[in-house]
Amino acid sequence: MALSLSWKVFALFPTNCCSLFLRAVRSSGLPSFPWGHCPWRGAGSILDPEMKAFLEENTEVTSSGSLTPEIQLRLLTSRCKFWWEKADLWPYSDPYWAIYWPGGQALSRYLLDNPDIVRGKSVLDLGSGCGATAIAAKMSGASRILANDIDPIAGMAITLNCELNQLNPFPILTKNILDLEQDKWDLVVLGDMFYDEDLADSLHRWLKKCFWTHTTQILIGDPGRPQFSGHSIQNQLHKVVEYSLPEPTRQENNGLTTSTVWHFQP
Ligand SMILES: C[S@@+](CC[C@H](N)C(=O)[O-])C[C@H]1O[C@@H](n2cnc3c(N)ncnc32)[C@H](O)[C@@H]1O
Repeated sequence: MALSLSWKVFALFPTNCCSLFLRAVRSSGLPSFPWGHCPWRGAGSILDPEMKAFLEENTEVTSSGSLTPEIQLRLLTSRCKFWWEKADLWPYSDPYWAIYWPGGQALSRYLLDNPDIVRGKSVLDLGSGCGATAIAAKMSGASRILANDIDPIAGMAITLNCELNQLNPFPILTKNILDLEQDKWDLVVLGDMFYDEDLADSLHRWLKKCFWTHTTQILIGDPGRPQFSGHSIQNQLHKVVEYSLPEPTRQENNGLTTSTVWHFQP
C-alpha cells in the first residue's frame, strides 16, 4: 500500500519529524492558536465551532486496532485525507493527539482491567494526547482527573473524545506543568512520553519530586523506545504488565510488538 511518507514517518519516529512539522507550521505563516492564552479548559467547556468542524472532518471515529476496543477515539487514519496529503498542508502543530500511542494503549488497558488502581483516586494523565488513558481512568471510577498536554488542540480532541464515550468532560490543562509547583495526585500516568532525551530528563526530575513530595503512585506505559530503555530511570522501575500489541498498532509503529506498564519507585 502506498503511504504518505510524511505522516507515516511522523507516526514511526515522532522526535525526528518534529522539525518537519514545526517548519510546516512556521512557513504557513499562521499565528498561534486563538485559545492559546486560555490554558484551562474547564469541564464541559464549549469548543470553537470552526475547530470542532475541522477536527471532525479530518479524523475518523474508531475503536478498532488498539488494546482498548471499549474506548472510541477520533484519530488520524488511512481514511483521512491528511494521512495521504503532504504534512505541510496541515495548518496546526504536530498532531500527536491524533494517534493512540502504544504506551497509552497499555496503560489504558491496565486501568480498565484493574479499576481498583484508580477507583476513588485523583489521577493526572500527563501528556494525555487523545485523552484515552484519562478516559480509561474515568471509566474505572477515578474521583478526580486532569488531562494535561502542551498542545491546545489536544485539549479539544480530548473534549470530543469524552463526548464520544458519553462521559462528562473532565478538566483539561494545556500548558507545561513541568516547571510549576506540583499539585498532589494519588496517581500520575504517562503514556509514551519518553520519546525525546531532554523531555525524558525533565520528566524524570519531575516524577522524582512528585514521588518524594506527595508519595504519588506513578505508572508509565512504553513500548520500548530507546529514549526510555536507555535512560537512567530504568533503575527505578518495576514491571507491572506487558501486552502484545494488536497487528494494526504494530504496523503503524514500525514493528513494535509489545507495550509495557512500569511502576516508578525511586
Ligand atoms: C507520543 S504522545 C502520547 C500521547 C498519549 N499519552 C498516548 O499514549 O496516546 C506525547 C504527548 O505528550 C505531549 N507533551 C509533550 N511534552 C509535554 C509536556 N512537557 N507536558 C505535557 N504534555 C507534553 C505531546 O503534545 C503529545 O500529545
